Amino acid sequence: MIIAPSILSADFGNLQKAIEEIHHTKWLHIDVMDGHFVPNLTIGPVVVKGLRKYTTQILDTHLMIADPLKFAKQFVEAGSDQITFHYEAVEDAKQVIRELKELEIKVGVSIKPKTDVSVIKELIPLVDQVLVMSVEPGFGGQQFLESSLEKIKELNMLKKTQNKNLLIAVDGGINDKTGKLCKEAGADVLIAGSYIFKSDSPKERIQSLQ
Ligand code: DX5
Ligand code: ZN
Repeated sequence: MIIAPSILSADFGNLQKAIEEIHHTKWLHIDVMDGHFVPNLTIGPVVVKGLRKYTTQILDTHLMIADPLKFAKQFVEAGSDQITFHYEAVEDAKQVIRELKELEIKVGVSIKPKTDVSVIKELIPLVDQVLVMSVEPGFGGQQFLESSLEKIKELNMLKKTQNKNLLIAVDGGINDKTGKLCKEAGADVLIAGSYIFKSDSPKERIQSLQ
């Protein structure tokens, strides 16, 4: 299982401590919000650049923004290793994937809870990752939506014929219990914010997810 702590739930006054606590995971998940696509504002490329100096983790960058192509290059230059954009944010997802691939990074597409897997079916051979949002994007600390499990199962079936290397990630409300259900449904990556950071021992929380 790939565990990706979501830095959104860390103490932003002490990011160095947060990095120290979770630096042993393979990925670090970075939630970028623009106040348009979602009703919250968070991290820009400058923060990614700062984090890049202190960790060798794969910086998994989740763009919850209205115009992903406008900022993708800046994030890659700052140190992002992979970029996931939202299907709902763009008109031509195939073109977005093509342009992101030109930046020589891994590319993911994400769907919100009310978006069906069927709409991204033809994108599966073109991407490295599909990110299933298991809460409405915008904020950490929300409750896991069980309807996400069906989507993971559906993607797991499609993966077999369309793209064997596809990673299925799930983001929102992940803890030891919901994480287990996601794994059973076929998820490869668990993204967790509050479960890891809002605890006395992020390390133990990561272990329990693993
Ligand atoms: C929500 C973000 C998530 C969030 C997860 O829009 O995409 O990555 O940080 O936080 P928890 O694990 O607290 O639901
Ligand atoms: Zn996220």
